[in-house]
Amino acid sequence: MKLLVTGGAGYVGSVVTAQLLEAGNEVVVLDDLSTGNADAVPAGARLVTGTLRDAAAGVLAGGGFDAVLHFAAMSLVGESMQKPGLYWDRNLGESLALLEAMRAAGVRRIVFSSTAATYGEPESTPILETDPTRPTNPYGASKLAIDTALAEYARLHGIGGISLRYFNVAGARLPEDGDAPGQGERHAVETHLIPNVLKVALGEKDKVTVFGEDYPTPDGTCVRDYIHVVDLGMAHLLALDACRPGGHEIFNLGNGNGSSVREVIEVCREVTGHPIPAEVSPRRAGDPAVLVASAEKIKSTLGWKPERDLRAMVADAWAFIQRRR
Ligand code: UFG
Repeated sequence: MKLLVTGGAGYVGSVVTAQLLEAGNEVVVLDDLSTGNADAVPAGARLVTGTLRDAAAGVLAGGGFDAVLHFAAMSLVGESMQKPGLYWDRNLGESLALLEAMRAAGVRRIVFSSTAATYGEPESTPILETDPTRPTNPYGASKLAIDTALAEYARLHGIGGISLRYFNVAGARLPEDGDAPGQGERHAVETHLIPNVLKVALGEKDKVTVFGEDYPTPDGTCVRDYIHVVDLGMAHLLALDACRPGGHEIFNLGNGNGSSVREVIEVCREVTGHPIPAEVSPRRAGDPAVLVASAEKIKSTLGWKPERDLRAMVADAWAFIQRRR
């Protein structure tokens, strides 16, 4: 297949681009490099630098595209609270430009990176795709609006869409042979737990901050559903095959297991052999106590099966960081 990958210079987009190439597809990456890195785009993919608004129509008009995988987005929850308009404009506005470009070019399939943040504070655990969506920040709200737009473009324009709602993505894709770093997390502003804990093991930070230990969870710290980026990526290949013109489906993508902040830090200590000092601070605003997916729908409908546990996520993220150094 010939595929357009938006955001293919970013963390998840670069991993999936590598997997798509490995499966024999032709890939064009469209990325404005506002947060992505040109050298993260796997060899074998063609990189077009530009925004979706400026460049999607031109690229797709070139012809021959079978489908789009849409990763490009602003994805910092805290930043979205400071700059909601930016998130609506960049996430929803640019996605609408992409959908119109698809329509004009007659490209009828899209796999979209949605998020657990569309659900907001859950009423029950694990979270089902049919649960209420009440996002608590503009990041989640803008992603939910794109899910809704996809459903409308499916119903009214015959586009086939699948929204994959990611839980907490971690780990890296390491090449099977050789010492090349592969693809992994390289955010200029790093807010995520695992990379921040690993910065302590690297000596780049003195200690990790635990945001709150007074949550109603077994050890008092927040519980999240961590999913290995390679397992997550494989779901995109299955979703691509399952897209049907005129239909829109939503699938959660998590392992269905929860790990607390303290458990994550402990696994990082075991993997790195570093004591990783931790200090407790007050809660971070907007963090739900527990976010765990029900992944039953994607398992039973698409036959997806996660194969890598938290230890593998930490070990691969650690290997990626060290190889890059
Ligand atoms: N945490 C710490 N210390 C840190 C960083 C994080 O204690 O230095 C805690 C957070 O409070 C949270 C957990 O570790 O309880 C995980 O935090 P992350 O920032 O790694 O991930 P989030 O669960 O906040 O965010 C993820 C995705 C978002 C998505 C969100 C859905 O990264 O894109 O899930 O709620 F919006």
